[in-house]
Amino acid sequence: MWGRRTANRELITFMRSTTKTAILNVMEAAARKAARGLVRDFGEVEQLQVSRKGPADFVTAADLRAESILKQELGHARPRYGFLLEEEGEVKGEDEHNRWIVDPLDGTTNFLHGLPHFAISIAHERDGEIVAGVVYEPVHDELFWAEKGIGAFLNDRRLRVSGRSSLDQCLIATGLPYKGRDPEPRYVDTLEAMLAEVAGVRRFGSAALDLAYVAAGRYDGFWEFGLNAWDIAAGIVIVREAGGMISGIRPNADPMTTGDILAANGDVHVPVERLLRRALRG
Ligand code: IPD
Ligand code: CA
Ligand code: CA
Repeated sequence: MWGRRTANRELITFMRSTTKTAILNVMEAAARKAARGLVRDFGEVEQLQVSRKGPADFVTAADLRAESILKQELGHARPRYGFLLEEEGEVKGEDEHNRWIVDPLDGTTNFLHGLPHFAISIAHERDGEIVAGVVYEPVHDELFWAEKGIGAFLNDRRLRVSGRSSLDQCLIATGLPYKGRDPEPRYVDTLEAMLAEVAGVRRFGSAALDLAYVAAGRYDGFWEFGLNAWDIAAGIVIVREAGGMISGIRPNADPMTTGDILAANGDVHVPVERLLRRALRG
């Protein structure tokens, strides 16, 4: 009896686990290495918080350090690939088909204020399509990852988007406009429309994690305007592989080029899209 139960448990563990491909291992190793420095620096930020000057310069340096570790590790493993890096910009590679899209620290404002909600985001783009992504949140050691055609995972657990289909039960994440970024003039209209229909709206401050949380079924949807490719590239493949839907917000708009994105489970994607478009029309 005991033996059979143990065997069943092992079988369940085997079925739940998956072996990462070589490229995913490269992405994970790079993320974990850069994250060690970020976590050390985050501890330091908590100390600097109380100083008059604040930790702003220190955080910029932490961000750049993380990016340079990621570039070095990914470049070492795949020397011919190009990069799109948030800080350094585009770096052309000999291989024109493959590149890395990297945000070394997504959730900078949280990091700067000592809020433990930030992540490293790495995507692998092949011929213009995102084929693999890793979003690593080091404080809780949560590695969200996905590869096209293989599935999405949180550490070794397979991810599925939520099954909620009624808007009044849905928890939806968003990103608020802020100083220094061109605001979507109708953002407040979209927020107002959403607040009237759903169970709750959250703004946690990391678009990469917002998408990863949609994939994990923690949020039922997420919308934001004016993001950059590095904020969303990895999250897009993670949501899709978890069975969720990704689109632009206005008709026929690609989120990777417009930066406007809607992610949701398949049941509420259309109603949320309709609601947002109605609000944009006024
Ligand atoms: C930001 C975060 C935030 C989003 C901003 C992004 P950063 O990225 O993803 O949630 O609202 O628009 O710029 O600056 O922390 O890498
Ligand atoms: Ca970002
Ligand atoms: Ca960043």
